Amino acid sequence: MKRIYTIAELQAELREARNAGRTVGLVPTMGALHEGHASLVRRSVSENDCTVVSVFLNPTQFNDKTDLEKYPRTLEADCALLEACGATVVFAPSVEEIYPEPDTRVFSYPPTDSVMEGAFRPGHFNGVCQIVSKLFMMVEPDRAYFGEKDFQQIAVIRRMVEDLGLKLEIVPCPVIREESGLAMSSRNTLLSAEERQIASHIYRTLAESRQWAKEDTVSAVHDKVVSTLNEVPELEVQYYNIVDGKTLADVTSWDDSDDIVGCITVFCGSQPIRLIDHIRYK
Ligand code: PAF
Repeated sequence: MKRIYTIAELQAELREARNAGRTVGLVPTMGALHEGHASLVRRSVSENDCTVVSVFLNPTQFNDKTDLEKYPRTLEADCALLEACGATVVFAPSVEEIYPEPDTRVFSYPPTDSVMEGAFRPGHFNGVCQIVSKLFMMVEPDRAYFGEKDFQQIAVIRRMVEDLGLKLEIVPCPVIREESGLAMSSRNTLLSAEERQIASHIYRTLAESRQWAKEDTVSAVHDKVVSTLNEVPELEVQYYNIVDGKTLADVTSWDDSDDIVGCITVFCGSQPIRLIDHIRYK
């Protein structure tokens, strides 16, 4: 596995692969890798001749400076995991390499990028589109792999790919969960052992709500999920939206769409740590 830090070196390496007719898979990450990322890398390795994993903590997608400062940085451990998964290249550029000048491009794909995370983290998806579009242009992958944990992110990236007319396949990969059901996330390392247990209520409640959805209305299920989680000390729901899985527009009836997903963000613990998850109803 090669470690590459510059765009020029990355492109020279990929030129060789392309000339030899090899396919390229890209797994964009911000580091602090865990089993969820490993599953994306293994999938890319099994579907492409060459897998590039970017490890770049992208400042433009953090609207909260403290959140960026708190984000775990673990490049050595990340590289060990990537090597074990069979990645071909780790691309770990500096901020100056990626943004020699401030990126002033504006991406706007409402409602996918304006609701939920888009509403609570203004500018977040613009930053995601800035870095992901740059990576797509630098790597020109045949396929790019994203975890479905960030359900809304995939919907926004799909819109961007359509908008820019890019020829690549976006491959969504299932959420990998801890034994307790908690969705794996780099942020979980910021939780204490006790908070991790508490956080497992999130998925348990979402999973149970699929039963409630058999009898209750959308609005009753929404309210029951929110009140059940808010009753747990140390948890506070920021939003719970039950939406169409493609447009991310709210649904009001189970008959509104044949693709319905509940997307949640919950604060956990005293720091507090922001956790996201989702559940598919249909
Ligand atoms: O999902 C993430 O880790 C990031 O948003 C991504 C896609 C790597 C862009 O920085």
